[in-house]
This record gives sequence, C-alpha cells and structure tokens, in this order.
Amino acid sequence: MIREMRPADAARAAAIERRIICPPWSEADYLDALGKPTYLILAAADEDDLVTGYCVASMAADEAEIVDVGVEPEKQGCGTGNALVAAMLDRLRDRGIREVFLEVREHNLAAIRVYSGNGFAEAGRRKGFYHDPDEDAIIMKKEELGC
Ligand SMILES: CC(C)(COP(=O)(O)OP(=O)(O)OC[C@H]1O[C@@H](n2cnc3c(N)ncnc32)[C@H](O)[C@@H]1OP(=O)(O)O)[C@@H](O)C(=O)NCCC(=O)NCCS
Repeated sequence: MIREMRPADAARAAAIERRIICPPWSEADYLDALGKPTYLILAAADEDDLVTGYCVASMAADEAEIVDVGVEPEKQGCGTGNALVAAMLDRLRDRGIREVFLEVREHNLAAIRVYSGNGFAEAGRRKGFYHDPDEDAIIMKKEELGC
C-alpha cells in the first residue's frame, strides 16, 4: 500500500536509508521535511503497516524535485519503487506541478529504469558530481504531468 508518510514512520525510513544511500537522510531529516508544506513524502507499507520504501519530493511553484527514493533491500525488485514514483507523480500533478526533476548516479540502473518507465528523460549531466565511487549525475526531467 502506498500512503503518505507519518512522523511515526521516520525512524524506520531512516534505518532503511542507512542501508542503501550514502549519505543517508536521518530520522530528523524526515521529521523536518514532514513539517514543511513544500515537501510531499510517500511511504510504501507492508501488511503490518510498516514502511518498506519511501519517495520524497520538494515543490516550488509548478516544479518539483524528487530528492530521495528508497526500498528496503529485501523488498527490492518487486515493483515497490515503480509504484512509489508513479503515485508521487499522480499526487504532484493533482497539486498543479507541471515539471519534475531528479538527479541519479549514471550507473544506478535500477533507479534509471524506474524513472524512465515513469516518463523521465535525460536532460543533462553533472560531471563527477558523486563520490565514493566517482560518477556523473544524470539529470532527468518529466514534463507535462498527466499527458
Ligand atoms: C532504485 C530503487 C528505489 C528501485 O526500487 P525497486 O522496488 O527495486 O524497483 P522495482 O521493483 O519497481 O523495479 C523497477 C524496474 O527496475 C528494474 N530493476 C530492478 N532492479 C534492477 C537492477 N539491479 N538493474 C536493472 N534494472 C533493475 C526492474 O526490472 C523494473 O523494470 P520494469 O519496470 O521494466 O519491469 C531501489 O533499487 C533502491 O532502493 N535502491 C537503492 C537506493 C537508490 O538507489 N535510490 C535511488 C537514488 S536516485
């Protein structure tokens, strides 16, 4: 099930984050974003309502940026990442967002597949943007949400 993240989910999201993303968002980062109207945070929850994944977007005027996406390692490859990004795009469109951007490591094939499958296309690159390992960032953009 995809639903909005709640403050009670923040610790579990941060625990997943520490396993999959460096540098990770902390519990305080999620709580801070949950308190701001410019952020939208969705969670994937299992049958016990425990968070297994999340997607965070920050909004400004009619643009948004997806700034954090993650799925618990044991639950990856089952469609959760795809469902989170699709649900996020639906909700952003309902809020009047027209363009969505994100940055992704050039070798993160799973993430690129999720974004491409949801209509994102490469819009540019930032050379050597990431470290450990050194990699370019691919900037991806989705325009005209809902079309
Ligand atoms: C990226 C991530 C969120 C994807 O979530 P997921 O639940 O595993 O993704 P899904 O199961 O929805 O798979 C989506 C697509 O990616 C493909 N995919 C999954 N793992 C893959 C891999 N290792 N290599 C290539 N493609 C892969 C799937 O086949 C699927 O393709 P399809 O829609 O054409 O069938 C997840 O792998 C993750 O949390 N990674 C670590 C954190 C991260 O990299 N976040 C993104 C930062 S920009």
